[in-house]
Amino acid sequence: TQSMHSRRFLDVSLLRLRLRLLHKLRLLRHQLTSSMHPRVPFAVLLALLLALLLAHSYPSASSSTSPNGNDADAPLGLDNGPQHSGAVSGVINLAVGHPATAMLPAEIMASAMERAATNLRTGGVGAVPLNYVSARGDAETLDIMAGFLTRAYGATVSPESLVVTAGVSHGIDVVCSALTSPGDTVVVELPTYFLAASIFTDHGLRVHGIAGTASYPHGDSSGNDGGVFDVDALAWQLRGGLRPRLVYLIPTHSNPRGGILPVEARRRLVSLAHKYGFFIVADDVYHLLHWGQGPPPPRFIQVEHELINPHFEDNAGSVGHPEGADATKINSAGICDVTHSCGSRIISVSSFTKILAPGLRLGWIEASPALANKLAGRGYILSGGCVAPFTASIVAEVIASGDQVAHLARLNHHYRRTSVVLADALSLYSSSLGWSFHTPVGGYFLWLKLPPRVTTELLAPAAAIAGVKFLPGERSVPVALDLKLAAIYAVHDREPSAGAVGDELDVSYGGGGGGGFS
Ligand SMILES: Cc1ncc(COP(=O)(O)O)c(C=O)c1O
Repeated sequence: TQSMHSRRFLDVSLLRLRLRLLHKLRLLRHQLTSSMHPRVPFAVLLALLLALLLAHSYPSASSSTSPNGNDADAPLGLDNGPQHSGAVSGVINLAVGHPATAMLPAEIMASAMERAATNLRTGGVGAVPLNYVSARGDAETLDIMAGFLTRAYGATVSPESLVVTAGVSHGIDVVCSALTSPGDTVVVELPTYFLAASIFTDHGLRVHGIAGTASYPHGDSSGNDGGVFDVDALAWQLRGGLRPRLVYLIPTHSNPRGGILPVEARRRLVSLAHKYGFFIVADDVYHLLHWGQGPPPPRFIQVEHELINPHFEDNAGSVGHPEGADATKINSAGICDVTHSCGSRIISVSSFTKILAPGLRLGWIEASPALANKLAGRGYILSGGCVAPFTASIVAEVIASGDQVAHLARLNHHYRRTSVVLADALSLYSSSLGWSFHTPVGGYFLWLKLPPRVTTELLAPAAAIAGVKFLPGERSVPVALDLKLAAIYAVHDREPSAGAVGDELDVSYGGGGGGGFS
């Protein structure tokens, strides 16, 4: 009955969301058409981000149905930091990547905690970890997590390859402290998840942005041809001497553009990682939020496994600086020769943030066993043991009961439907407002490309009057493009998969806006 009730509630909510969106878009169009001045400066790159499916999409419903009685979402303001703000009544806030309040698993967590409480009372010490546990995590918890991930990914995940973290953000921080030194370079796609950049700069890393493609030339099997990481541009810059220590990207349903890096680009990037000795930090946080046709492309860890001889020796000892890459160990395909040990170059960071609840602060790193041990060997992890044994064991309980799988299915169903509502509403105005987008097939985000003459500065006040908040695309460009390098690249050496870097730079230059995307 409860699930029927919540399904009916969601149906009504969807309808209400559709009506509110349409109403606000009508207002927005009115605002825009009446405020657009013919002499608005020629466009810089005009883009904005709409984060989908958020708590604030249901402001009136969320307070009345929040099972834990918490209807007090923090006051919202982009000024407060878009990733960590809540809802203002009556405003559709598409600026934050929070789960819908109605979809938070209050009942699931309450039941798991009740079972854990019973275990604690009856099972005594060890039923739920209260003592120190080993650095990567409690063995039973890791087994349960590995089992869940193996089924969810459709590819084997061994418990030895996992490290419990306090979420993706913490996982990235661990990777930086274990594998980098101040002054090293980390390559990121632009636009990217902008808050990751501040983790990199915390570690004294140089963040080098490479403009993503505007679209992947061949699209992909999921039908999403939103922009993705430009592997060709990276290859070109590597040939020109760029030596990153890390390449950070969100390969599947990226933040902010929702792009899915096709498998052939993944293969190419893995081979470059081995050739030039950098690590790929794959932020797989949205991989399991997927409703496209067929599964998303395999994750980097699988791609590396398939490319490299399965007997390839896992040797974290070769975790050296890029200069340490030994060309003699690379075969003609750019992959470690099977007779040598080059060590794995892939680290997957993910979390329960988007598939269960952000407040848990629980995630995992997946890497080769040797690399996983190296990452878990940070002083503070060795000293304190695993960072979240208690929470991890409660989540293991959620997994063991089957609730995690069921919840994930519900999330995908719900987000698919709300993404369609948003896409339908936006497409009603595509021809009159001239914006374009790809309908999401997973993740949290829809990237709306604005027409010439409309800037996000122009749009924001109009949207505010209409009662919509969004994240301007510029916010997802935390570092300036290396314009000199990119300009040479755009003019002289476009690799076969010519994309839009050139176009985007042209637009930027035309607008005189410094900093690439600004
Ligand atoms: C791409 C990406 N990575 C990481 C995070 C944060 O993950 P966590 O809450 O697990 O630290 C987010 C949150 O929006 C995100 O979009």
